[in-house]
Amino acid sequence: MAAGRLSFSNITALAPMVRVGTLPMRLLALDYGADVVYCEELIDIKMAQCHRVVNEVLETVDFVAPDERVMFRTCEREKDRVIFQMGTADPDRALTVARLVEKDVAAVDVNMGCPKEYSTKGGMGAALLSDPDKIEAILKKLVTGVSIPVTCKIRILPSLEETISLVRRIEETGVAAVAVHGRLKEERPRHPLHCDYIQAVARAVSIPVIANGGSLDLVKTNGDIEEFRRATGASSVMLARAAMWNASVFSDQGPFPLERVMEDYLKYAIRYTNHAFNTKYCLCQMLRDKVESPLGKQVQAAQTNAELSEAYGLQEFYRLTQERLQARRDALQSGSQPDRLVMDGDVATMAVKFERREYPPHITPKMFLLEWSRKEKLEQPQYEMVQRSQDRAFQSTVTLAEKRYRSTLWEKSKKFAEQAAAVVCLRVLGVPEGRIGEEDSGLVCKRKREGKTNGAAEEEASKKRHTAADLRQETDSSKAGNGGRHAADTPPEQPQRSGRARISF
Ligand SMILES: Cc1cc2nc3c(=O)[nH]c(=O)nc-3n(C[C@H](O)[C@H](O)[C@H](O)COP(=O)(O)O)c2cc1C
Repeated sequence: MAAGRLSFSNITALAPMVRVGTLPMRLLALDYGADVVYCEELIDIKMAQCHRVVNEVLETVDFVAPDERVMFRTCEREKDRVIFQMGTADPDRALTVARLVEKDVAAVDVNMGCPKEYSTKGGMGAALLSDPDKIEAILKKLVTGVSIPVTCKIRILPSLEETISLVRRIEETGVAAVAVHGRLKEERPRHPLHCDYIQAVARAVSIPVIANGGSLDLVKTNGDIEEFRRATGASSVMLARAAMWNASVFSDQGPFPLERVMEDYLKYAIRYTNHAFNTKYCLCQMLRDKVESPLGKQVQAAQTNAELSEAYGLQEFYRLTQERLQARRDALQSGSQPDRLVMDGDVATMAVKFERREYPPHITPKMFLLEWSRKEKLEQPQYEMVQRSQDRAFQSTVTLAEKRYRSTLWEKSKKFAEQAAAVVCLRVLGVPEGRIGEEDSGLVCKRKREGKTNGAAEEEASKKRHTAADLRQETDSSKAGNGGRHAADTPPEQPQRSGRARISF
């Protein structure tokens, strides 16, 4: 496909599939020959709350929810091929989300075909089909508001005339293509597909039409894709279940044995630390009637990606991947130069790690900073904490006299993260921080310096002054658990096997 704006003519696509269309499946489909890959439908309200995080360890871009769940993870490899599908019933919110992901995806798509209650009760999915004014408002807002192509995916309406009239109205909004699932919203996936409707739509509009719905009986192998395209008269084809069952349907050399496909999928899941429950779900979909086989039972019993890797004999791959990950983390941390002041927006940063052994017992930089702020008659330092998703490490930013300070290095504990932030602040201000061997500043009383107090009273007092917000944060981050969280991961080099999907790192 030509570089630049994504073309929807004559393509084969991995359809949007909730829980299935996460990063490992999308990369696998690309490896096997899919031209474009849709992500699972993501709801606009949830996405609008996410912040964009560059995950340097995994080399991904993550859209992370306030509870630290990674809602959408993508990477450079799929940047020109991935279509972000959203569930929405609100033009403004749709635009907010489209703008949030605009730089990281090739196109945005609106789901107008999902008949499930969770979607329709909010006016989203198939509910939109009976509100063409809303469809028009959403699509026009998106087309004029973002620089990447906008598409939508619909189901057919009860009559040909209604369907054609709707698609013509959709075309008028300026969308780049429309995917048509040739079933009514009341029909189930087992019902026969209305190829004649797709054909009529393809004839009626000049934008590319992407035919969908043929997995059950029309598209079983790669050769059938072309047949399906011809039978529907559409420009392009989109596959959901056929790809979910065996993604090598996209390969003109396929289909490959399922064991191999599952193994390739699992490698991507390990490489990108896909959530284990999601990995397991996808493997079970692939296993289908083999889900009660010995392998299926092992998969069902697994709770982690490590256990899944055992089921497939991929322990060594898993171990090497973990090692790579750690090496990359270490390299990222040691690459930073300590004590060099770098401004990150309005925050003064240094690459500082808090080493407890460098300070006498009962003395900490936080304590020194507190004493200094009192002496200077400043408001006491305020600490804000963030936790990153990939390894659950902490980073604290301290505010003092309306200036903010932070260490660029992440710490395993909240306490250490705050101490590191305090060290940065003290170093920038040129104030002693209480290290062993440092000239006595007299900031903290001698008894404490010599460790003769029965506990760090000052720090205790400071701790007490820490507000309920701190406590809340503590509870929240422990509650977050790792449900939906993706820990960072890094892969080993993979020998390329001929004719086989290749995982490139
Ligand atoms: C597991 C699963 C999840 C799906 N999730 C979505 C979704 O998120 N968005 C969407 O537009 N359609 C979704 N669909 C519908 C498919 O994209 C597709 O329209 C349907 O399965 C018919 O295509 P097929 O015959 O190739 O399976 C889903 C289908 C399946 C099987």
